[in-house]
Amino acid sequence: MQLFSKKPIFGSTKPKLNFMSIWKRKSITQLLTEADESEKGLKRTLSSKALVALGIGAIIGAGLFSLTGIAAAENAGPAVTLSFVLAAVGCAFAGLCYAEFASMIPVAGSAYTYSYATMGEFMAWIIGWDLVLEYALGAATVGVSWSRYFLELLNKFGIHLPPNLICSPWETLKLSDGTVIEGGMINLPAVIIVSLLSLLLIRGTKESASLNNFLVILKVSVVILFIVLGWGFINEANYSPYIPENTGVKGQFGWSGIAAGAATVFFAFIGFDAVSTAAQEAKNPQKGMPIGILGSLVVCTILYVLFAHVMTGLVPYHQFAGDAKPAATAFAVTGYDFLQNGLIIAILAGYTSVMLVMLMGQSRVFYTMSRDGLLPPFFGEIHPKFRTPWKTNLFFLVFVSLFAGFVPVSDLGHMVSIGTLLAFVLVCIGILVMRKKMPDVPRAFKTPLVPFVPIAGVVVCLYLMYSLPLESWLRLVVWMALGVVFYFIYGKKNSKINKEQ
Ligand code: ALA
Repeated sequence: MQLFSKKPIFGSTKPKLNFMSIWKRKSITQLLTEADESEKGLKRTLSSKALVALGIGAIIGAGLFSLTGIAAAENAGPAVTLSFVLAAVGCAFAGLCYAEFASMIPVAGSAYTYSYATMGEFMAWIIGWDLVLEYALGAATVGVSWSRYFLELLNKFGIHLPPNLICSPWETLKLSDGTVIEGGMINLPAVIIVSLLSLLLIRGTKESASLNNFLVILKVSVVILFIVLGWGFINEANYSPYIPENTGVKGQFGWSGIAAGAATVFFAFIGFDAVSTAAQEAKNPQKGMPIGILGSLVVCTILYVLFAHVMTGLVPYHQFAGDAKPAATAFAVTGYDFLQNGLIIAILAGYTSVMLVMLMGQSRVFYTMSRDGLLPPFFGEIHPKFRTPWKTNLFFLVFVSLFAGFVPVSDLGHMVSIGTLLAFVLVCIGILVMRKKMPDVPRAFKTPLVPFVPIAGVVVCLYLMYSLPLESWLRLVVWMALGVVFYFIYGKKNSKINKEQ
């Protein structure tokens, strides 16, 4: 049986130039067959509602509970609510494109798999490599935020850990008792939670739909409780001015600040694309995927705007500077002390599900890339007993821990945002390519208003990328350059498609 399509994206069936082989595509039929063969054990049990819940489970996390405060203090002030709206618009355009892909190619692997089928191997590699920024660094970011809320909880019980072990070297940490730590050695709690969850994944812990539903209800309840209880304590004076004047520096308040804030809180929406990784477990993927992706986006946007409105109404926005647990800081104003601990515990539990989804998504993408020959076989090895890609999990245990332990949360968040925005840009372009190259392949959901929606998605996402700090761009360029070098040294030679020529 022929495993992959040998058809290059452009022109004849026989690639004449070696260069052309980097544009080879996997056929969609083959992708679906492979999926059926490798995932026989999976049952189609997820309804549209469960898919929305899965999305919310992956979405609500550190972006809301940590970065809202940072974006308010550094970029947008109370107008961080508008930043959320702008970020949501970008996500909605990209989400509509994801939904078409997911309904047409309901296979695990997300954007990497879609681009292998549409834009060819090189672009697939670029997206797969880029997704490390989204999933692995995303898990690290949530890990750091987890550690902040965890310390807050310990402080409430009078437990204080040595300052050197709770703060990364280039970070200033403000504790709620007023202590300020100017750079420690390592953020050990973040390393520990990342390691524990990675080990859990090796044992094959798959979030059951009911556990996920429980965590979603818990998270959404916390958000609603915060909004409802906090609303009565809003101090209108904190909204004046609603859009603080720009300081003269791009991104520091004013309209450019709202855009920079949007690029930061964009992190809070990441995860809706994780719904597409469950395509093989959806009862009716063609309908369920778009509902799951777009439904979870809509619910989260409404909750986020209200949450940010209350948060910046409770406390003057500049108080959130350098505070990775602003929800706890703001909620303290309400005086509901007995609820504070419950709030923190629920946030910690909610973070766990986000980290699990991200670490699992990361290992799935690397596993698939390894199976395609683009990464060494090491990453595709399955544990004989647990049936999980355990070596990939161990590799990312170390990789993610290094970032969680030694890099400040806002640098991490920016890296995740820029990497994910790039992936979204490529997915939007993918829709344009696919409509031209494969107009007849059936898809239950079609992105409306093509080419407007994908082009608007590209424009908004590029604008958000432009609003991010220069350092994030430099890091992105270095990371992607490393990826290109690796592809030409290893991936291109070992790619299964190319070997079959
Ligand atoms: N959207 C996820 C979060 O905010 C990544 O934690």
